[in-house]
Amino acid sequence: PRVIYITRHGESEDNVAGRIGGDASLAPSGIGYSKALARFIDRRRLEFAVEVEEATHHAPGATTSMSASSTPGTCSEPEAGSPCPEHLRRYRRRRCGEPDFEVWTSMLKRAMETVEYFDPQRYRVKNIKSLNEIYAGKCEGMTYSEIARDFPEEFEARQLDKFYYRYPGIGGESYADVVLRLQQVIVELERIRHSVLLVTHRAMARTLLAYFMDIPTTQMPDMELPLGYVYACEPRPFGNFLRVWRYDS
Ligand code: F6P
Repeated sequence: PRVIYITRHGESEDNVAGRIGGDASLAPSGIGYSKALARFIDRRRLEFAVEVEEATHHAPGATTSMSASSTPGTCSEPEAGSPCPEHLRRYRRRRCGEPDFEVWTSMLKRAMETVEYFDPQRYRVKNIKSLNEIYAGKCEGMTYSEIARDFPEEFEARQLDKFYYRYPGIGGESYADVVLRLQQVIVELERIRHSVLLVTHRAMARTLLAYFMDIPTTQMPDMELPLGYVYACEPRPFGNFLRVWRYDS
């Protein structure tokens, strides 16, 4: 079992100014999020490993051997809702051999800065260009009201069909383009068996969540996905289960 965590980067200077696109650094509030995110994933990773070991160990008919590398031993039933102390102890002891966990970010500064507080000894970080935010062509760096003022037809066209609307200018993209751009990332996510945290952007997080949670393309571009939320897709026998956490600054 593994988990795919999806989050947006911490708040950037452009978010504060209401500008779309660009390559701004994190604002002070975004740095706060990046510190909290590293602590949160550390803790989730520990809790998740314990949950998995408990599920295996306490399952009806399970033996006490939990994995080839674990020390066989006894484990009393845990109290409801709390991790079994024996599993916690064993997990902490063999942390150096813990299951793989990768952190994937886009190649934009705000996403890369959001993972600066992850311990490089324990997390392999990959920066992937296909996770970059939807490219707004001529509208990069503008606020929505500037777009409505300077390019009213474009603004209206996007409102009418947000999924297929492609931003004007060289390299301008639509959500449909982004879906294609993300295909390779999704194939790779389906292929690997370990957990991943994706630190990306609003349009990309919408596209990834729509894929994992079967959300139709008609709803996807308007999904509310504020900054400061972590979404976890956990595979279950009949589809993925979604858990959501909000950063409480
Ligand atoms: O405002 C942040 C942002 O990530 C922009 O860079 C991007 O253009 C936008 O959100 C995508 O959201 P929407 O498709 O709703 O405009």
